[in-house]
Amino acid sequence: MNPDLQQLQPYPFEKLRALFAGANTPDIAHIALSIGEPKHASPTFVMEALARELPRLANYPTTKGLPELRQSIARWATRRFNLQALDPEQEVLPVNGTREALFAFAQTVIDRSRDALVISPNPFYQIYEGAAYLAGAEPLFLNCYAENGFLPDFSEITEEQWQRCQLLYLCTPGNPTGATLSLEQLQNLIRLADENDFIIASDECYSEIYPDEAKPPLGLLQAAAAMGRHNYARCVVFHSLSKRSNLPGLRSGFVAGDARVLEAFLQYRTYHGCAMPIQHQLASIAAWDDENHVIENRRLYREKFSAVTDILAPVLPASIPNGAFYLWPQTPIDDQDFARRLYEQQHVTVLPGSFLSREVNGRNPGSQRVRMALVAEPDECIEAAHRICRFIETL
Ligand SMILES: Cc1ncc(COP(=O)(O)O)c(C=O)c1O
Repeated sequence: MNPDLQQLQPYPFEKLRALFAGANTPDIAHIALSIGEPKHASPTFVMEALARELPRLANYPTTKGLPELRQSIARWATRRFNLQALDPEQEVLPVNGTREALFAFAQTVIDRSRDALVISPNPFYQIYEGAAYLAGAEPLFLNCYAENGFLPDFSEITEEQWQRCQLLYLCTPGNPTGATLSLEQLQNLIRLADENDFIIASDECYSEIYPDEAKPPLGLLQAAAAMGRHNYARCVVFHSLSKRSNLPGLRSGFVAGDARVLEAFLQYRTYHGCAMPIQHQLASIAAWDDENHVIENRRLYREKFSAVTDILAPVLPASIPNGAFYLWPQTPIDDQDFARRLYEQQHVTVLPGSFLSREVNGRNPGSQRVRMALVAEPDECIEAAHRICRFIETL
């Protein structure tokens, strides 16, 4: 067996199952705020496109994807991030959701013959860590605390660490914190990437879930373009229809940016064998070409964030994040204890923060925090908030 597999931690949901083992729950409906799976309806017109294109099952898809999908994506990203242009031939690749792409990307860009470091935020989307280990690299986690606006403190990284860095994962808006990086921060990181010769992989799969229609989160390519770097050197972004369009089962996303890097990624993917089925590509075009359903999606999240944070305010203050669909409140007791007792008393599942982060320098930035995904219907989220209040009153 590949010995690097032993470095992988159990996935957070496995840890959650172990935490809840043997728990007795009250006879009330279960409400899960633990999983980041959107529950709003998938757009009908996308499902219709998928059904219409089912005969394409008869064809093998290509790894590079249909030109018309790459064109639709390039149009979308150019519009959304104020780019001068994005070349659909060389600067865009479809992927089967960002999860597999974030993982496979490290396998493509890491040179394991040089003592490689992969830097990422902490807490973090667990794939970054597994991707680093299986690429033969060492992960370095940057703690994200409330005092830093839940953003990594890049000034903690030493000169020697920057020099060893081959890949920097960013997550903006962040899971689970919802924090977003500013233009200045993104541009500083691009300068550091030049100085130290590393690649930035910006996971922007939550970029379309944000509270203020007038303030969409910035993206890495946008930051590069605003510096006049229209070739996006060292910058690659990861986007998905899963959260934007409530299509987690379509497994559809894209990577875009530096053509030199994407050329190598395409080569890797050709051997990896992860082409997107043609009917999924055609359905994806319908989704990327429409914004109305995305605006409606944001309206629903806004409604839920407002109602839930109002209810929780007296007992569990949680601020509305800049992006994504999570609350990340501080808990009055240990986060694992909180999650287990809440489950036992109120049949509500939240994810302990420490399951999403690692202890670094003696501190775990996820301890005494929980992640609540406001993905369910408004009534269910509101009911969960009331139950959490009742639970906290018993502590
Ligand atoms: C931060 C982050 N990145 C990537 C993903 C993967 O999403 P998908 O593979 O559906 O695009 C998720 C899913 O929850 C996520 O939270």
